Amino acid sequence: MNCETCIILQNEKIAQDTYRMILSTSHSVDMHPGQFVNIKLEGYMLRRPISISKIEDGRFTIVYKTVGDGTKHLSDKKEGETLDVFGPLGHGYPDEIVYDRILIIGGGVGVPPLYELARRCVKQNKHVEVVLGFNTKDAIFYEQEFKDLHIAVTIATMDGSYGIKGTVMDAIEEKHIDIETVCACGPIPMLKAIEQRYHQGFMSFESRMACGMGACMACVAKDKEEADLYHRICKEGPVFPIGKVVL
Ligand SMILES: Cc1cc2nc3c(=O)[nH]c(=O)nc-3n(C[C@H](O)[C@H](O)[C@H](O)COP(=O)(O)OP(=O)(O)OC[C@H]3O[C@@H](n4cnc5c(N)ncnc54)[C@H](O)[C@@H]3O)c2cc1C
Ligand code: FES
Repeated sequence: MNCETCIILQNEKIAQDTYRMILSTSHSVDMHPGQFVNIKLEGYMLRRPISISKIEDGRFTIVYKTVGDGTKHLSDKKEGETLDVFGPLGHGYPDEIVYDRILIIGGGVGVPPLYELARRCVKQNKHVEVVLGFNTKDAIFYEQEFKDLHIAVTIATMDGSYGIKGTVMDAIEEKHIDIETVCACGPIPMLKAIEQRYHQGFMSFESRMACGMGACMACVAKDKEEADLYHRICKEGPVFPIGKVVL
């Protein structure tokens, strides 16, 4: 966990309200899929947590959606400017998932951390399939990037403007995808549906955060089995085994 001034190498729009930013770092070896960084923006007290989407030697990529003032400010940043970045933070997906067949499910801005995970799983010769859900065709991103990993990619859109009409669960049913180990990241309703259907794998959670490093307890989630046991999403998470915490 480090505080670093990173140089913006690229910041480009890749879909509706969605940007990809590539940043320099001297800590790429410490980064793992599913972890996040906490970004300081001038004029804002709280840092903005954003997942690490791709890790390369000396640089990493984030993909973010402009939802409020902070992310809008981020989208205005230009190549060559610098950002104050704290991270990598949290616990991501396991370095090696013990199962051979892995179904990766992403929804909206939950898709970015799954890209580096898919890259690693492919390198480990796992059989990987990907199902991505978006609201509309304009919001889709990273379809080609996942396809370039030579894995099967299915897209679902809620309005049916591209791919299969409906949710990621509708797409899995329609395509008869029978892989039972799942790694997922996305909105709560999607995670709830996944939890009802799958019992093996990992899910990444989001929460409003303050410190982002385990000190303030602003981000806790209740354990599913042990009463009075809470987990900090920023520290023990954001990735947890399916069924570990209350959604
Ligand atoms: C672990 C983690 C990873 C994330 N990864 C990504 C990612 O890869 N791409 C992406 O687009 N978004 C991601 N998010 C959501 C992202 O942090 C928020 O969209 C962003 O902080 C909104 O900031 P804002 O100033 O634009 O919005 P505002 O609504 O103006 O923010 C006000 C405050 O609320 C917080 N906040 C608002 N929405 C969220 C949210 N969904 N989660 C946590 N805090 C929030 C902000 O950090 C800020 O402190 C992630 C969130 C978490 C917790
Ligand atoms: S945000 Fe402070 S403990 Fe998680």
